[in-house]
Amino acid sequence: MNTKKLQTNIQTLRGSIAIPGDKSISHRSIMFGALAEGETTVTNFLPGADCLSTISCFRQLGVHIEQDGQHVKIEGKGFNGLKEPESVLDVGNSGTTIRLMMGILAGQDFSAVLAGDESIAKRPMTRVVNPLRQMGATIDGRKGAEYTPLAIRGGKLQGFRYELPVASAQVKSAIILAGLQAEGETIIIEPEETRDHTERMIQEFGGKIEKDGHTIKVSGNQVFKGTAIHVPGDISSAAFFMVAAAITENSEVVLKNVGLNSTRTGIIEVMKSMGADITIEKKTSEGEPAGDITVRSSRLKGTTISGDLIPRLIDEIPVIALLATQAEGITTIKDAAELKVKETNRIDTVANELSILGADITPTADGLIIKGRKALNGGMVTSHGDHRIGMMLAVAALITDGEVELADPDAIDVSYPQFFGHLTQLIK
Ligand code: S3P
Repeated sequence: MNTKKLQTNIQTLRGSIAIPGDKSISHRSIMFGALAEGETTVTNFLPGADCLSTISCFRQLGVHIEQDGQHVKIEGKGFNGLKEPESVLDVGNSGTTIRLMMGILAGQDFSAVLAGDESIAKRPMTRVVNPLRQMGATIDGRKGAEYTPLAIRGGKLQGFRYELPVASAQVKSAIILAGLQAEGETIIIEPEETRDHTERMIQEFGGKIEKDGHTIKVSGNQVFKGTAIHVPGDISSAAFFMVAAAITENSEVVLKNVGLNSTRTGIIEVMKSMGADITIEKKTSEGEPAGDITVRSSRLKGTTISGDLIPRLIDEIPVIALLATQAEGITTIKDAAELKVKETNRIDTVANELSILGADITPTADGLIIKGRKALNGGMVTSHGDHRIGMMLAVAALITDGEVELADPDAIDVSYPQFFGHLTQLIK
């Protein structure tokens, strides 16, 4: 397996980075562009492996898509213009692709098979399969369709009322996408608010969706019109440099054009409550809110992260755990059992890999307990094929005393192909 010697013993990070496009929004821009009528253009699209999987799935469904780096042009086909794919739809490593595609395929008058890599094959799917079956889709797969490959026979769907058993934007979005093709109204109740990019995008494409507290209502038979989408930078990618600046000395890093949707900004609140030196400059923009984030070296203290904050920073927990190793006192992360079913079991992979580097970190049933402040040492670590674990470890290496070698660094290409280039640019 490929390994990479990471840059260690770094004193200072300085400079400014244009953070690449948001992964969640990039996926949705392709999906809605394909389901709309007419042309959609996307700028600042994230050309990471996950979003490229979404593009290739839609090409197999007969949608013409031109992609050149961060620019994408989609010739929308409408909900009724997709065609039956001739081979398996390969979602690669992307949970968002497979789960949202299921919602789309559930309403189509043809059959399709979805599969992905080793990580996807371990991720739970009945959370999406069960509600889609209730709406009328026929879905089969390994272990009662808990695992891929999944075969979907779409057809006529019926709107319904569904209380989500887990706070998951992917599950919510899959049901919304099915609801858009169903007869009547679909009502979804979330246990906690999750990222609302699907809801916002429906409105950007001229559709209708209502939200009242944790209740979302959507009706079928809508027609979307192609539009121009500008994707803001991904706060989940910015998070690595936010933490890197906070834990190194004499650092000041400016992260440009980062999405500041309040369903995603939990990390800013947590870092501030830990004492981090962060300033935000909001930009006026149409669609998703965005702005520049400046982070400087910080004196940090431990905190507790739980409850409805968790879905607002779920993908940032690995790097927040690293931050906590450099905070005075104890940090407790709880109510985060969902981490176990991400690209890896992130409770275990974060605890194992940071322990190798000398952190005092204990996994629990639904989170982590981290005791700081602890100097980190070198060692051999692995991403376990998980992009966010790989990037977190590369940031950890900045402050280790001793060499760090990372196995499977290429996993990072899933969401941030320019990550190492940007990191090198900031190192002074
Ligand atoms: C995502 C939702 C979250 C998140 C994932 C992207 C999305 O997953 O962890 O990286 O784009 O909707 P869950 O819906 O499983 O919480």
